[in-house]
Amino acid sequence: KPIVLSGCQPSGQLTLGNYLGALRQWVAMQATHDCLYMIVDLHAITLRQNPAELNQACLDGLALYLACGIDPNKSTIFMQSHVPEHAQLSWVLNCYTQMGELNRMTQFKDKSQKNQSNVNVGLYAYPVLQAADILVYQANEVPVGEDQKQHLELTRDVATRFNNIYGDVFTLPEPCIPKDGARVMSLQEPNKKMSKSDPNTNNVIGLLEDPKILTKKIKRAVTDSDEQANIYYDVAEKPGVSNLLSLLSATSGNSIDSLVGQYTDKMYGHLKGDVAESVVNLVKPIQSEYARIRQDLPYLHEVMHQGSAKAREKASETLAKVYKAVGFIPRA
Ligand code: AQP
Repeated sequence: KPIVLSGCQPSGQLTLGNYLGALRQWVAMQATHDCLYMIVDLHAITLRQNPAELNQACLDGLALYLACGIDPNKSTIFMQSHVPEHAQLSWVLNCYTQMGELNRMTQFKDKSQKNQSNVNVGLYAYPVLQAADILVYQANEVPVGEDQKQHLELTRDVATRFNNIYGDVFTLPEPCIPKDGARVMSLQEPNKKMSKSDPNTNNVIGLLEDPKILTKKIKRAVTDSDEQANIYYDVAEKPGVSNLLSLLSATSGNSIDSLVGQYTDKMYGHLKGDVAESVVNLVKPIQSEYARIRQDLPYLHEVMHQGSAKAREKASETLAKVYKAVGFIPRA
């Protein structure tokens, strides 16, 4: 079976963007792939986190994975920091990645601009740790949203460079970007992607938010000042309306074309009401499952304990291969 690896940062409450861009595919891939899904806590500290909140966010994320349908009997589920091989391989890969390559990463540019008082080396080297996450499991496929495409390309470049020097050490991974929901945009600023750490909470649809609040936020989403209030899909001219159509399409399963046909004579308010209903129908069962699982701490600990033990078997094999390739003496 092809190997799949992906993860979300515990840097806040997971959003509908994380679900549609990543988690939903993760669940589906369990039927056909050998899946590893982690909470990337090492990545989360590239932005300053409150320790108590980070600790809870890791457990929240894990419970949410399970509530969305990630099954520990099918997939390997773990905390990134429980598998030290990620950080170990990341160091080696740092030495095979050029500064010029990292300078081009748009996520670094965005995040460093938003947070100028803490542009740390970890934030800069984030894509290298991500490459290590993927390569340490010899993953074939990485299900991610569109925003991660550039990082995946870097992973392939670094792996190819390493393989060209030392032989076939790493498998080259392919990104799997979903057709619907690959890029969920912010509700108030539809030119920027929805992000869980956005300080403007009106931009974000949290998977665990109260349906009443979700409905209010969606009804207040920015559209545009088109006097005719025409509903059609055009990201450049109508980013807000296009985002609402994408959300309705991704949550209801109807194509954007068929939706545009249905809404020709309707008002923005009507579209928003339907988006809200469709989103609430999607999140409600996830929320009730989450409430049940999140209380069961012994179960959550057992899942992550077993997951990291399994993950380390594979990761340590790759790390040994890499250490040998570069010439380190094996530890007796
Ligand atoms: N808006 C989005 N639309 C589609 N997919 C998205 N993803 C994130 N936002 C969207 C996908 O979710 C996965 C996990 O992302 P992450 O938690 O590792 O970090 P991120 O991409 O930086 O997500 P956020 O929500 O924007 O987090 P913060 O605010 O902490 O930076 C990835 O597969 C991503 O593509």
